[in-house]
Amino acid sequence: MAQPLVDNFGRRVTYVRLSVTDRCDFRCVYCMSEDMTFLPKSEVLSLEEMEALARNLVACGVTKIRLTGGEPLVRPGVVGLAKRLKALPGLRELCMTTNGGRLQDLAEPLKAAGVDRLNISLDSLDEGRFHELTRTGRLGRVLAGIEAAQRAGFRHTKLNAVILRGRNEHEVLPLVRFALARGLDLSFIEEMPLGVITEHDRSSAFIASDELRELIRQEFPLEAAKDDTGGPSRYFRIPGHDTRIGFISPHSHNFCGDCNRVRITTEGRLLLCLGNEHSVDLRAVLRDGPQDQQSVDHRVREALYGAMAIKPEKHHFSLEEEPQILRFMNATGG
Ligand code: GTP
Ligand code: 5AD
Ligand code: SF4
Repeated sequence: MAQPLVDNFGRRVTYVRLSVTDRCDFRCVYCMSEDMTFLPKSEVLSLEEMEALARNLVACGVTKIRLTGGEPLVRPGVVGLAKRLKALPGLRELCMTTNGGRLQDLAEPLKAAGVDRLNISLDSLDEGRFHELTRTGRLGRVLAGIEAAQRAGFRHTKLNAVILRGRNEHEVLPLVRFALARGLDLSFIEEMPLGVITEHDRSSAFIASDELRELIRQEFPLEAAKDDTGGPSRYFRIPGHDTRIGFISPHSHNFCGDCNRVRITTEGRLLLCLGNEHSVDLRAVLRDGPQDQQSVDHRVREALYGAMAIKPEKHHFSLEEEPQILRFMNATGG
């Protein structure tokens, strides 16, 4: 293995979130504005460019890649990309975060391509509310997608729910029961202020994870559980069940001290932290210069090592101030 990627705080980067498209067939209220414009194709990395970045990241000690978006399953060729990434020697886990709307058709091909694990967004079990929150999503399709993932043999599938006061806090217990009945993991996420949205006031919609945990404890005992995903969730178990209940609490419980990850945006920007703008333009590194593999690999690795020096210590999110991060989650890679 080449030299590992270690930042100035001694944290080793082993997890990369790769956004394969900024496009999505949903318009979740916390993620996008209603009239989103998307990047022109020329600005988006090609699948070959993504593969070249992944090859070098894995050579430098990255063991987990998560394909994100936007919605990764709207990118043509994503199944083939998954298959090629899975073949990279040294990669232990290839995961995907999806809205689930296309899994009915794609769960089996993804499994066959070697994708190890899926995280599926599910903010509501009520058709009307689901539609309000996703604007264009259809609950029935997502539920069928979850079933298809389980049928295809995916294990440790995790549901993600962003809980907003006044919109879906009444869904917490139904979502827990749903996950328990199906042996699925479930993470509750505090909304992060990325991009300017108009539909709700982020500050009044905020609910801290502790409040949700207390709500769940009224019906189910929760015991702290070990995390082996290397992600930001703090996990709990309900005795007698396989399900893990996770809390991703960027506001109320900062997890940056253990950060092991970086993101690659759809246009090839290496983002060193979700909550800061520190980045390196890997698309330019890929495109500017000789195109033989040896030269490309050399340039990319130099850029990766250089980037470690600017990885910030932690994110700074504030719900009271105007969003400091103007990019939306869909372009960022979730
Ligand atoms: P696993 O742990 O592998 O299951 O996945 P994950 O929780 O890392 O990934 P997922 O795509 O399901 O992300 C869930 C939520 O965690 C999303 O809202 C992400 O934006 C958020 N998240 C993941 N990594 C970070 C991070 O480094 N910083 C912040 N602030 N949020 C993160
Ligand atoms: N804050 C928190 N989570 C978000 N997601 C999308 N936008 C936001 C936001 N602003 C979630 C999605 C998906 C995961 C990748 O990120 O619901 O589950
Ligand atoms: Fe699409 Fe995911 Fe954003 Fe919802 S949260 S609009 S499903 S990218």
